[in-house]
Amino acid sequence: MTTRRKTSEELRSHRWYGADDLRSFGHRSRTKQMGYASEDWAGKPVIGIINTWSEANSCHFHLRQRAEEVKRGVWQAGGYPIEMPAISLGEVLMKPTTMMYRNLLSMETEELLRSNPIDGAVLLGGCDKNIPGLLMGAISMDIPAIVVPAGPMLRGNWRGKPLGSGSDVWKYWMELKSGGIQNADWDEMEDGIARSFGTCMVMGTAATMMSMAETLGFTLPGASSIPAADSNHARMASLVGRRVVDMVWEDLKPSDILSAKSFDNAIRALMAMGGSTNGVIHLVALAGRAGIPLTLDRFDEIARTTPLIANIRPSGQYLMEDFFYAGGLRAFLEKLRPMLNLDARTVSGKTLGEDIAGAETLIPDVILDVDKALKADGALAIVKGNLAPDGAVIKPAAAEPRLHKHSGPALVFEDYNDMAARIDDPNLDVTADTVLVLKQSGPLGGPGMPEWGMLPIPQKLLKQGVRDMVRISDGRMSGTSYGACVLHVSPESHVGGPLALVKTGDIIELDVAARTLNMKVSDEELALRRAGWKQQPVVYGRGYGFIFTKHVQQADKGCDFDFLRADAGPKVPEPEIH
Ligand code: FES
Repeated sequence: MTTRRKTSEELRSHRWYGADDLRSFGHRSRTKQMGYASEDWAGKPVIGIINTWSEANSCHFHLRQRAEEVKRGVWQAGGYPIEMPAISLGEVLMKPTTMMYRNLLSMETEELLRSNPIDGAVLLGGCDKNIPGLLMGAISMDIPAIVVPAGPMLRGNWRGKPLGSGSDVWKYWMELKSGGIQNADWDEMEDGIARSFGTCMVMGTAATMMSMAETLGFTLPGASSIPAADSNHARMASLVGRRVVDMVWEDLKPSDILSAKSFDNAIRALMAMGGSTNGVIHLVALAGRAGIPLTLDRFDEIARTTPLIANIRPSGQYLMEDFFYAGGLRAFLEKLRPMLNLDARTVSGKTLGEDIAGAETLIPDVILDVDKALKADGALAIVKGNLAPDGAVIKPAAAEPRLHKHSGPALVFEDYNDMAARIDDPNLDVTADTVLVLKQSGPLGGPGMPEWGMLPIPQKLLKQGVRDMVRISDGRMSGTSYGACVLHVSPESHVGGPLALVKTGDIIELDVAARTLNMKVSDEELALRRAGWKQQPVVYGRGYGFIFTKHVQQADKGCDFDFLRADAGPKVPEPEIH
C-alpha cells in the first residue's frame, strides 16, 4: 500500500511552532529554555511519550529508562521527543481499586495529547489497567499512537520451583491456612515471587492486555511477550521511537488500524490464551471509544470455536518467560492463522498476516498445536439468566470441570465486610455444594468493581480439602485468579439487578454448557423482594469519585464513562491557539 506522506506544514505541531506571531514566539522561546535549538524540532514530528512510570508501581520501575530508549529512536528517525508523565495505575498499592482510575488515565492521555503540540504518541505501560487506559485515550484522540508494553517480570522462584504472580500466592495462601505449608515457607516466597521489574508473569490481566494491544495492531510484532528485564526489551523501545516518527509522516492513526475484524482477532486471541476475564470489559470499552459495536454475545460466539493453546498459568502450566522462549505472541497467533482476519492493519504499516508470517513455535509444550489444545473451546463463557439478564462471565478453563454444571443453595454476603467477617467462622453453615454469593462489588457498589470475585474458600472447607466451589458476584477477579467464579453479573446489585434479591438458601443453577445462570425463585417472590429492596447510598459526594459514580456504565458496557464513548457527542475540536 502506498501512502502519501505528510508535509512539515501539515503536522499538528506546526500550528504551535510554525506561525510567525506572538504565541509562536512563546512556544519557541520556552522550548529553547530547555536547551533545545530550533534545529531540534523545526519541521519535525513531535512525539509525546506518555509514561506511567512511578515508584508506586513496581511493575513499571524500568519505564523511566525505557522512555530514554524511545527518545533515542525518535531522535535517530528525525523526530523531537517530549516525555509526559501520566497517572500510574499500580495494581498492588492503589486503593480502592485501579479500575476506579482507568477512565481517569484515559482522559488524561486524551487531553495531554490534545492540549500539547503532539503529532504522534508512544504509550508506556503494562500493569493491568494502564494499557486499556492509555489506548482508550489515544483512540479517542486518534493521532498516530504505538504502545511500548512494560513486559512481564522474570519467573518467580521458591526452592527451585517456579512461582507465578498471584496464581501461586492464592494457591499457597490456601495451603498456609490449611496447614500444608508453614510461615517460614511463606516468608521465603515473599523474597522469591517478584524477582525483577515488569508485570505479573502469568497470563493475568497485564499479559492479556499487552497481548490484546499487539493483536489489535498497537505494538511492534512480538513486542508484548518480551520480558521486561531482557535487553531485547530496551531495543524494542528504541525501535518504537524510530517507527512512530514514520507513522506520523504516514498519518497511520488508530482509526486506520481498528475495525470489527481487529476486535474479532483480539477476542480470538483472548480465548486461545485463556486470558483474563478483565479483557472482556476492556475490549468492550476500547470498541466503544472506536465506535465499533461489540457485545458480550460476540465473545461467547468466538469462544465456542477457539481452542485454548497457551499452556500458561492460571489455565495452564508455564509462565510468560517460557511463552517468550517458545516464540511469543507471533508464534501463538501463527497457530491461529486460519481463524484470524489477516488483513487487519497494524502499527508496523503492514497487515497482521505479514507481521506473524513465518513465526516458529520453539517449545511445543508451551504453545500447543490446535489438535493438542488444553481445551477444545470455551476458555471463557458468557452466561445469562434470571440472575444475570445482561450477562456474566466465567472462565471454565480455570475452574474444576465438575463445577461447570452445578446446583446448590446460596450463601449470601451482603457486601465485602460481611464476607470478611464471616467467611472463616467455624460455625458457618456451608458445604462444598454451597454457592457463595457476594453483593455490592460492582462498578457502583464496590465502588470501582474491585477484584473480590474469587471469594475465599471458607477455612472450614479448606481443611476438608475443598479447593474450588461456585462463587457469584458483580465484581471482577484478578487475571491471576482461578476457580468457578461467575463474575461481572449485570446489572449489578447496587442498581437493583436481580443479584440484589438473592437470599441465603435460594437454589442457584449454573450450567456453562447451556450458558445459563438462574435462581430457582418464582417471579412473584422476586417481585415481593423487589418491593422491599432499598438501594445503598453512594460513597462519593464530591471529587473524582463523584464523576465516576455519576457516569460509569455497567460491566457489559465496559465500565467506561457514558460521555467518553465515541457516540457520546460530536468530535472534540482541536484547541484554538491564541
Ligand atoms: Fe502489576 Fe500484576 S501487579 S501487573
